[in-house]
Amino acid sequence: MLEIENLYKYYGSFAALGGLNLSIKKGELFGFVGPNGAGKTTTMRIISGLLKADSGSVLVDGVDALRDLKHLKDKIGYMPDFFGVYDNLKAIEYMEFYASIYGITGNEARKLCLELMELVNLGDKAQNYVDDLSRGMKQRLCLARSLIHNPELLILDEPASGLDPRARFEMKEILRNLIDMGKTILISSHILPELAEMCTSIGVIQNGQMALCGAVEEIMTMMASSNPLVITMVDDVERAVTFLKEQPLVDNLSYKDMQIRVDFKGDAAEEAWLLAGLVSQKLPVRSFMREEGNLESLFMQITQNGGDDSHAHAH
Ligand SMILES: Nc1ncnc2c1ncn2[C@@H]1O[C@H](COP(=O)(O)OP(=O)(O)OP(=O)(O)O)[C@@H](O)[C@H]1O
Ligand SMILES: [Mg+2]
Repeated sequence: MLEIENLYKYYGSFAALGGLNLSIKKGELFGFVGPNGAGKTTTMRIISGLLKADSGSVLVDGVDALRDLKHLKDKIGYMPDFFGVYDNLKAIEYMEFYASIYGITGNEARKLCLELMELVNLGDKAQNYVDDLSRGMKQRLCLARSLIHNPELLILDEPASGLDPRARFEMKEILRNLIDMGKTILISSHILPELAEMCTSIGVIQNGQMALCGAVEEIMTMMASSNPLVITMVDDVERAVTFLKEQPLVDNLSYKDMQIRVDFKGDAAEEAWLLAGLVSQKLPVRSFMREEGNLESLFMQITQNGGDDSHAHAH
């Protein structure tokens, strides 16, 4: 549904996107995560035809998004990361205004707009002034607007930002419904755990490039082996530490009281061998496990490394 290859975007001499690659299949709910300034909005605006790229290619369901804007418009529903001010405009009028842009007017427009407002749980807000809606309602109204021309690919820039937990939950439910209706969704956020919970795939963008990309399960697995092994001893900690330090897959370790934390680059089978090694040395192991996976720490790790790199290059 979406194929981005080697995408570059410069603001002056600054490369906001430096050879970005991204591929999203039909029916996916793809989470696009990255720190402030990583290039999420820039990427989304280019896909939506609102910003010109410098080089690379973007295909949306076979349409060349960098050149064929006429056909692109039909394919894409874009929800920006801001909401304007609409003096004296009622929610339904706002919707009908956007419908008219797509040539939908009269009863047909009214029916469609009410249906879409229903879909985003705003059925009872049609006669309210847009400016009087809460932030969460405005965001949902904006989502309803992006659905007017029945696009296949939705590009949602931080649709859950600034929402309280209940409003976030509602937004997630709506997105799930849209996926069930057959849409493909690209959604950006700073909050990786929140995306991981609902997305099928995740891409982490850092300094205008994809730092990591894959199915949520793949990323979870990867993350599991990046967490430290936590080994608790009954006693003999010093001897256990000496033994562990001699093992080839042990990178680094630290210990406090009876607990040893080990950076161990092995898979499950190699973990089992390590445990067997400890036991064969008659070292009294009380527990032995990988620390629980934590997406937030993975995100920090990836983005932290990127930061360190750029620091290194600067010197
Ligand atoms: N119009 C512009 N002129 C100059 N630089 C820009 C412009 N728009 C964006 N940038 C820069 O490009 C980089 C990427 O910005 P972008 O808005 O795409 O990031 P983002 O990932 O959406 O960040 P956020 O999480 O804060 O929304 C940033 O360094 C930003 O300062
Ligand atoms: Mg942004």
